[in-house]
Amino acid sequence: MAETKKLLRSLAGETQAVPPVWLMRQAGRYLPEYRATRAEAGDFLSLCYNSDLAAEVTLQPIRRYGFDAAILFADILLLPQALGAELWFVTGEGPRLSTITGPEGLAPLKGKDDIHDHMAPVYETVRILSRELPSETTLIGFAGAPWTVATYMIAGRGTPDQGPAHALKAADRATFEALIDLLTESTIEYLSKQVEAGAEVVKIFDSWAGSLKGDDFARYALEPTKRIIAELKSRHPGLPCIAFPREAGEHYIGFAKATGADCVALDNSVDADWAAANVQVDGCVQGNMDPKLMVTGGQALIDETKRIKQAFSKGPHIFNLGHGITPDADPDNVNIMLEALRG
Ligand code: CP3
Repeated sequence: MAETKKLLRSLAGETQAVPPVWLMRQAGRYLPEYRATRAEAGDFLSLCYNSDLAAEVTLQPIRRYGFDAAILFADILLLPQALGAELWFVTGEGPRLSTITGPEGLAPLKGKDDIHDHMAPVYETVRILSRELPSETTLIGFAGAPWTVATYMIAGRGTPDQGPAHALKAADRATFEALIDLLTESTIEYLSKQVEAGAEVVKIFDSWAGSLKGDDFARYALEPTKRIIAELKSRHPGLPCIAFPREAGEHYIGFAKATGADCVALDNSVDADWAAANVQVDGCVQGNMDPKLMVTGGQALIDETKRIKQAFSKGPHIFNLGHGITPDADPDNVNIMLEALRG
């Protein structure tokens, strides 16, 4: 059946005069209605596990802007928590988790099939959204890629260079690879349940893929993503998958073919003309405006929106930022971008 939803049409390979558009972190602190709902929930994690309020914040940017896709409101770090890691957020700083320094760090973790009770509220959020979203809006489910999630589980926090994860990989490869395997397998189960609950597309966020060099990129960024996509597509034939190997540089070339992804999301360090020639030749791409323009606005925002639209106009494209919209973004700048894009 031919797709009627704009986002699904791009994912199926169609070139559209006006590309579909959504923004990473579109439900977030730059929106006053998000801040109000988050205050009502108490804190960020309580918001993630409150299905009604998580669905509400997912819908807020759809009502305000009419984006072509909604992304489930949750976080990539809910999976470690479902596996038994401790997780909390320090306001103004970011996530904190229990650490993994050796095999004893893996011992208390649960198995891949033991996450669903913990994740039940997330699946319920997806069910609410698939009922309540406008018929033209596509619902995207997501998870972190194993390497990116492992960097947080090993270090117990975000790190500028993923040093602790690289150190464990060098010192105790067996433990490191056992963690990557557990995350790969539990991510398949987690995403599969999101799809059963109503997610129409899945996106795999590998935010720290760029720090994997040489053979490590193929082993720990490409291979796990390929395994996840292959298994999901065998369980859910035709499921479109977006991969985001952030800052992969030259490794963006061929990434879609090698992993089976229907679309590769580009970060804003990638030149759009280069990506059109080297990445979009294999299929749909998503991206990749600098999120700073949503803060600074003005003519530069209009010019850059049009430049990126033009650069990717000869193939399938989903307009987005190259990373999440930041809390200091001006909500009016989103309207300016949409006007420049849709005309
Ligand atoms: O895009 C969306 O709107 C969907 C929801 C979503 C969130 N996080 C909500 C969130 C998604 C897809 C994510 C992914 C995520 N989470 C990634 C991968 C993408 C990326 O940004 O590189 C990562 C690395 C995380 C882990 C994480 N979550 C960090 C490091 C932080 C703290 C930094 C920050 O922005 O505060 C979070 C918190 C977080 N996740 C917020 C939101 C809306 C802010 C929480 C708040 O309201 O205070």
